[in-house]
Amino acid sequence: MSGPPLDLAVVIPTFNEVRNVPVIIARLDQALAGRHWEAIFVDDDSPDGTADTAREIARVDPRVRVIQRIGRRGLSSACIEGMCATAAPIVAVIDGDLQHDETILPKMLDALHQDEALDVVIGSRFVDGGGTGDWDHDRVAKSAFATRLSRRILKADLNDPMSGFFMIRTAIVRGMASHLAAIGFKILLDIMTASPKPLHFLEMPYTFRVRTEGESKLDHVVAMEYLIAIYDRMFGNYVPVRFVMFSVIGAFGAGIHFTVLAALFKGLGLGFTVSTIAATVGAMTFNFFLNNALTYRDTRLKGARQLFDGWVSFCIVCSPSALANIGVAAFLYNTRADPWEVSALAGVVLGAVWNYALSSRFTWGR
Ligand code: GDD
Ligand code: MN
Repeated sequence: MSGPPLDLAVVIPTFNEVRNVPVIIARLDQALAGRHWEAIFVDDDSPDGTADTAREIARVDPRVRVIQRIGRRGLSSACIEGMCATAAPIVAVIDGDLQHDETILPKMLDALHQDEALDVVIGSRFVDGGGTGDWDHDRVAKSAFATRLSRRILKADLNDPMSGFFMIRTAIVRGMASHLAAIGFKILLDIMTASPKPLHFLEMPYTFRVRTEGESKLDHVVAMEYLIAIYDRMFGNYVPVRFVMFSVIGAFGAGIHFTVLAALFKGLGLGFTVSTIAATVGAMTFNFFLNNALTYRDTRLKGARQLFDGWVSFCIVCSPSALANIGVAAFLYNTRADPWEVSALAGVVLGAVWNYALSSRFTWGR
């Protein structure tokens, strides 16, 4: 054995943060002087070379480690993987863009050492002494709305449940890792609500800094993912969230189907069966691209080759239900049986379950 045992791991999720990497290591080095720590970058194969830069530092500083994930995206899942990858008993998560105040890390660590009953220390912008720096009105309003919404699933009286800056006992995360939704940005909220027993927490104030290098990745899709994560905690055990997304997109696909059908059959006067086939292919293509961009955003297929293969796979997977739908529609049209809406709807629901079950497995390899 060499040296004192490892005490703390600092997980740093990164996407395109190349210029911040050396700075954050220097800051951690200063803030955590005298402590036994390691830093784990979890980088989602950033095109700007973040991982290479982190590895250059890691070659000469064994406290620095790099996990480079290929074909994956997502802040929450990156944090979970980083937290599960350390031997340290305590782990912190901190943004790689220097917006979080690393100087409070030693105080967070001491708090966990001093109180065995304490599970997690949260860097908080909304307790006395904390702040959000110079956020504009819009961001303040959005953050307040998201925080209010979180209260619906969070039973604890936590002022900053959206914080991405916290320190926790590693065993707690490891124990619940398979129950975490791992969607979007809200890793702390996820941990707090996944725990079978309420976690004992302490909020420690800090002021959110302004980003000076690179840009935020919190976009509309991330905001949508937040709503999805809330749904997942409330109802996810009954109907999986991906199935809901898949079905909502499927409903829009049905809209495409009817539009194309009307245009070809009514508008251009083509045959009903031919129009239905074209409408089905159109709807499948639409569904494939939307599911790839949203439902399976974290493992989405990229580049012409992958997209083409995925599209073919998706069409093959969906073809039994598509054929059934075309058959039913053609049959009903030809015989004019009466409650066709009901049988069509039954076909659509069965088709959705079938398509979801098979495409999640074969097209996106879940
Ligand atoms: N590995 C990985 N994968 N890292 C990511 C990803 C991703 O898909 N998306 C973002 N990151 C990294 C960024 O590189 C950065 O280091 C950190 O996660 C935070 O991302 P930002 O894009 O800077 O987020 P923000 O500043 O808008 O949001 C912060 O504040 C929110 C509360 O207002 C984060 O701390 C959020 O977690 C927090 O909820
Ligand atoms: Mn940021």
